[in-house]
Amino acid sequence: MRAVDLIRKKRDGGALSGEEISFLVGGHLRGAVPDYQMSAFLMSVYNRGMSEEETIALTKAMAASGRALELGGIQGIKIDKHSTGGVGDKTNLILAPLMAAMGLKMPSIAGRGLGHTGGTIDKLASIPGLRTEIAPWEVLETVKNVGFSICGQTDEIGPADRRLYALRDATATVESTPLIAASIMSKKLSEGLDALVLDVKTGSGGFMRGMDEARQLARLMVGIGNQAGIKTVAVITDMDAPLGRTVGNALEVKECISALKGRFAPDLLEVTMTLAAWMLHLADSVSEETRPQRLGEHLLKRYKDEAWDYIEHGDAFKKFVEFIDAQQGDPEAAFNPALLPRAMHIKPVLSPWNGYIRRMDAFAVGQASMLLGAGRAKMDDVIDPAAGIVIGKKPGDAVRAEEPFATFYTNEAATLAMAEEVFLSGIEISDREPAKRKLIHDVVLPF
Ligand code: URA
Repeated sequence: MRAVDLIRKKRDGGALSGEEISFLVGGHLRGAVPDYQMSAFLMSVYNRGMSEEETIALTKAMAASGRALELGGIQGIKIDKHSTGGVGDKTNLILAPLMAAMGLKMPSIAGRGLGHTGGTIDKLASIPGLRTEIAPWEVLETVKNVGFSICGQTDEIGPADRRLYALRDATATVESTPLIAASIMSKKLSEGLDALVLDVKTGSGGFMRGMDEARQLARLMVGIGNQAGIKTVAVITDMDAPLGRTVGNALEVKECISALKGRFAPDLLEVTMTLAAWMLHLADSVSEETRPQRLGEHLLKRYKDEAWDYIEHGDAFKKFVEFIDAQQGDPEAAFNPALLPRAMHIKPVLSPWNGYIRRMDAFAVGQASMLLGAGRAKMDDVIDPAAGIVIGKKPGDAVRAEEPFATFYTNEAATLAMAEEVFLSGIEISDREPAKRKLIHDVVLPF
């Protein structure tokens, strides 16, 4: 078998067998298939797509490249939540300690930022000393002792995704349904889970711009998860505007610390608590051996109220502190966010007009944040953990001309003007108050 023949086959629209896909994934990992050939393969998949069978084969080959976490000896229901990626999308850092406080176990393998979106691992890297490149035994210890762990892909955990993830980011091949599904589900299949909630983002700031694509990705991943024996549902949530009030790594960690103390932006609260409710419902359906049901308003509220208790009484915050300590970060940072990296240059962005914010395009906000230093344009770019944007006014809010509606943070003053131009290109202001945005669009259940 030769890589070049398989690339040609996919380039011309053919379907690859499981053996052929394993040959490419394994060969790439061993160095027998170089990055340039794998890049050509990724671009062929981006252009031609993959059948469901091929996507499942790719997911399995990627999962088999590393070690599975062996959580069998740890008591409790193992659950995770994974997002397809967004701007200001920080719910993992709130949900993991929350679920641990509620007695569930969450062994999360997460990723760095991709394209204009942020990544959980980059956010955690802004906490002084915190390690996310840890060995499987350290993940198990932390899950056992704290209730959750968040680690990045390593040579042992998700190694194929580690390599492909970085390559996709640098070759404009991120926005591909099979590649996203295989990337996410290969990590989740390695976690030894009982249940999984997927947050499929739709809108300008997600990789799936429209509802049809989002539903297709959600159904594909829900199918892969359930076939593997993991109770999986997907919640399709809005990513037309950034989530919460911050974009950028240390800034988002600070927002999560506030949220864990009960202070949430309304949109972040609704999305986080909806995901929490679904996680609790799935955990119940694991212990009761029932099928997950569509949640009515009443049950949804009951789960949300139950979760809120653990925020309100400080249990989730306490778990977050324990987690930082267990992964060798400085737990003081949770009490004193001034210990997180701080930017030298701070600039308010003023509203050009009077009116209501009708649109704050998440893609433009993500691009502006990248320009300030919060994201990578190339594989080896170094992120500035302090860089990013604090959003003072959200869509639907009234603003006056010259009123600051966002604040930029960076250590590179030269980036400010361009970032402002990009940010403002995504803002629309209207005379009339816009209709309230819908945040939760749909839920995809196993069929
Ligand atoms: N998250 C992942 O882990 N992979 C993707 O491809 C997108 C989001």
